[in-house]
Amino acid sequence: MSTPSGSRDWPRVQLHVVTGKGGTGKSTVAAALALGLASQGQCVLLCEVEGRQGIARMFDVDPLPYDETRIATGLVHDGEQPGSVHALNIDPEAALLEYLAMYYKLGRAGRALDRFGVIEFATTIAPGVRDVLLTGKVFEAVRRNSRNKGARQYDAVVLDAPPTGRITQFLNVSEQVAGLARMGPIKSQADTMMTLFRSPRTAVHLVTICEEMPVQETTDGIAELRAARLPVGGVIINQLRPRDLPPEQLAAARAGTLDRTVIAKDLTRVGVDADDELLDGLLAEAADHAERRALESTQHRLLSDLDTPTYELPRLPGGVDLGALYELAATLKEQGLA
Ligand SMILES: Nc1ncnc2c1ncn2[C@@H]1O[C@H](COP(=O)(O)OP(=O)(O)O)[C@@H](O)[C@H]1O
Ligand SMILES: [Mg+2]
Repeated sequence: MSTPSGSRDWPRVQLHVVTGKGGTGKSTVAAALALGLASQGQCVLLCEVEGRQGIARMFDVDPLPYDETRIATGLVHDGEQPGSVHALNIDPEAALLEYLAMYYKLGRAGRALDRFGVIEFATTIAPGVRDVLLTGKVFEAVRRNSRNKGARQYDAVVLDAPPTGRITQFLNVSEQVAGLARMGPIKSQADTMMTLFRSPRTAVHLVTICEEMPVQETTDGIAELRAARLPVGGVIINQLRPRDLPPEQLAAARAGTLDRTVIAKDLTRVGVDADDELLDGLLAEAADHAERRALESTQHRLLSDLDTPTYELPRLPGGVDLGALYELAATLKEQGLA
């Protein structure tokens, strides 16, 4: 199958796993990456596994069922065929029922098991089983076979994955099932999944913001992934503050030595009545901004020292709506992640 031009830096990757410390923008980046790839003409499946309906909220569509649903179209470029983003909210119970139907033709019988609470039992009793059902579905979407008749073939799958602290265990399916099965079909299926997750067709990207804790978590996460021989992708530095002030002004803002009279004059010139209260407020904000920028620079250096490509996204003052997602997607495309 010939793939429409995909990611510049990750052309062989079919499964983009996006992890990160909670709240840093994992879901936002996963969505922007999916849109970016769709803007290259790819047909993309964006999956979520934590049952939060974050994708529906970001794309402003109804809550997603357990069914692949087309939610967006890539931006069209001159003459190029636009790709599309489909989304899937994977829940472990539905994945187990589907698995039973696909492999054991347990269509209706599976639903009967569900009535007796067997499915819930299987998925709540053993957290490892829960994870394997989720990763199993992701694997199925990447490696479609004839058991799932008529299902769409994707150029790429983007997974809005569990946070950094859990990602290695989540993807380490062989280990997850080790206690359950030493041989037989479950073991061999887990090993087949592991082969994909460890191959160059998978990349685990890490989202962070330029603050101490998430940067530390990113560093630790990369070490853990490497120790488990899982392929580390890029580091996406999200929510960067604007860099519109020269270093001397930042230093002055931090030291509290910015010239009040100059600022007051500038404000008057643009028609703002500059009283003392307003000036105090502005100077305090400037000091805070400069302080955070300094902290950001320190963390930024630590991230540049990691042996992985980095990508940068600005902090959008208006938050992230669908238009903003397209904007972030374009930025990721320019930088070569998408
Ligand atoms: N680049 C950005 N600029 C502005 N707001 C952002 C940006 N990235 C994420 N956000 C906002 O930060 C919050 C957390 O983002 P989200 O993607 O849900 O994080 P996670 O999935 O890691 O918990 C959301 O409200 C989101 O809109
Ligand atoms: Mg999220």
